[in-house]
Amino acid sequence: MKKIVVLTGAGMSAQSGISTFRDSGGLWENYPVQEVASIEGWYRNPEIMLTFYNERRAGLKETRPNKGHLILASLEKHFDIRIVTQNIDDLHERAGSTQILHLHGELTKARSSDDPGLIIEIGYDPIKWGDKAPDGTQLRPHVVWFGESVPEMTRAVEWTRQAEIMVVVGTSLAVYPAAGLIDFTRENVPLFLIDPKPAPVRRTNLHIIAEKAVEGLEQLEKILIAKYL
Ligand code: APR
Repeated sequence: MKKIVVLTGAGMSAQSGISTFRDSGGLWENYPVQEVASIEGWYRNPEIMLTFYNERRAGLKETRPNKGHLILASLEKHFDIRIVTQNIDDLHERAGSTQILHLHGELTKARSSDDPGLIIEIGYDPIKWGDKAPDGTQLRPHVVWFGESVPEMTRAVEWTRQAEIMVVVGTSLAVYPAAGLIDFTRENVPLFLIDPKPAPVRRTNLHIIAEKAVEGLEQLEKILIAKYL
């Protein structure tokens, strides 16, 4: 089976009703990033941050994977699909995809404030100030904040290096190191970029599908099956 690496961003979940970050009306228009998504914010006002993620986690419970998530899961019948997502939602999992890396963490998990490897599943439950991890430290969201490292990047680069096709869906490619992944494909690997307002990408073998995730992945599914099976 051909190996396909898929990098997804907030636009992948937009049609499930989850707002993106940098579109008009996006999350970062309504919340100061430094206050709710940075390690400094955690030291300064942890309870504001716990509330921010508790609200997003509770909202996720009412959200459903969209047809784009389902198409990516069904493509596993024909291809070795490996998803590297910047999203912290669980929609790829709930759609049935089986190879998923979360570069920026997962809303449904929490971890020790001291040991990033001490992770527990919390589903859609809130984390309250005073909730403790097994090591006795304050429980925190298992989310990569600005100013923190991206440990899953190593595996994401490996997947990208092995890929025969790369697909990018719904990301402004504004945040590194995630955005840099597209530079790790081998020479001449085709890159399909699905986004209604595609970010400027300069590379050979680039195929832009200027559509939303669902419509774009419907088109891409036809192309992949016709051309690469
Ligand atoms: N379908 C596909 N793409 C869409 C849709 C849609 N329905 N709606 C919007 N988009 C596109 C936008 O055009 C934009 O290119 O999704 C992208 C969203 O960009 P951002 O809001 O910057 O989200 P993302 O690229 O995922 O941000 C990366 O930044 O703040 C951090 O950790 C956060 O993981 C996030 C990272």
